[in-house]
Amino acid sequence: MSRVLVTGGAGYIGSATVALLLESGYEVTVLDDCSTGHADSVPEAATFFQGSLLDGNVVKMALQGCESVIHFAAKSLVGESVLKPDLYRTNNVIGSQILFDEMDGAGVSRIVFSSSAATYGDARVQPILETQKAEPTNPYGETKLAVDNLLTDLAAQESFAAISLRYFNVAGAITRDGKWLAERHSPETHLIPNLLKATPSNPLKIFGTDWDTKDGTCVRDYVHVKDLALAHMQALAALVPGVHEIINLGSGGGYSVREVIDTASAVVGYTIPTEETQRRDGDPATLIASITKAKELLGWEPTLNLESMISDTFESIQ
Ligand SMILES: NC(=O)c1ccc[n+]([C@@H]2O[C@H](COP(=O)([O-])OP(=O)(O)OC[C@H]3O[C@@H](n4cnc5c(N)ncnc54)[C@H](O)[C@@H]3O)[C@@H](O)[C@H]2O)c1
Repeated sequence: MSRVLVTGGAGYIGSATVALLLESGYEVTVLDDCSTGHADSVPEAATFFQGSLLDGNVVKMALQGCESVIHFAAKSLVGESVLKPDLYRTNNVIGSQILFDEMDGAGVSRIVFSSSAATYGDARVQPILETQKAEPTNPYGETKLAVDNLLTDLAAQESFAAISLRYFNVAGAITRDGKWLAERHSPETHLIPNLLKATPSNPLKIFGTDWDTKDGTCVRDYVHVKDLALAHMQALAALVPGVHEIINLGSGGGYSVREVIDTASAVVGYTIPTEETQRRDGDPATLIASITKAKELLGWEPTLNLESMISDTFESIQ
């Protein structure tokens, strides 16, 4: 089967996707600067270039022999992006532009890109359709939207075949060669790994209990990293020259923060310690994906539920 360049393949979602690509018979090259990823997450069967997207020479080398690209590499902390917007623009947008220029030069024109629900901002209509106007509320979401727009231009002008996958909340872990590939972000900002770390002296903070939702806590849409990784392979197969599609990936449903905590308490067999605090600025009450387009265009549907996401994450840290 053909060779795929996976940028950000040492990160959480990238390494899970690399593992599944290899299992499916693809050859894989990984390009990652390990700024937030981990070299030991890259399977030995992949060719690994440790370097940055910002270095055109290393991108050129990594592209050799590749027919397509899955582009995960990015900085992705919302809070950090507010403090360091230039870092996010340089790394995420200029880094992507360098990748696209090198792809053009190497005659590689097939790409699947990790976009984000953060592009939609505080969407009022739920579930969120891809046709909803993108109005990001932070620099991170702005960089993802900027790259989506670059891909729309490249599809129109250079006949690139491009799909942007807009993920909602990704969770869970997978095993490869008897080893867990799980979230190892630092700092960790995601609910599921954080609630599993909570202790009575360091309880999980619940940011706001007075939201306009079923139980007053925020509602989010969770998708298992294995289902998400599989969607990337289905997206590779669905690429069409001259077309840029934007496709949401979630479950199509939502869980409140309290529901996630209650489910996690049942899975792990103890009560997760929590502390109620004030709302955080910029948090929307509810974010739920419409996944009708993913079903129709990719033939994709999530198969793993919230219990699996929590139990796999729990297993990975034992
Ligand atoms: N985790 C989620 O819930 C979520 C949701 C929506 C979108 N996303 C997007 O999915 C992608 C992967 O997210 P993740 O959670 O696996 O994050 P991650 O931080 O684990 O992975 C990102 C990887 O990119 C690498 N990287 C960053 N800048 C680079 C550069 N300039 N050159 C080379 N490598 C670079 C990092 O070292 C890291 O390995 C990101 O683009 C993120 O914005 C993630």
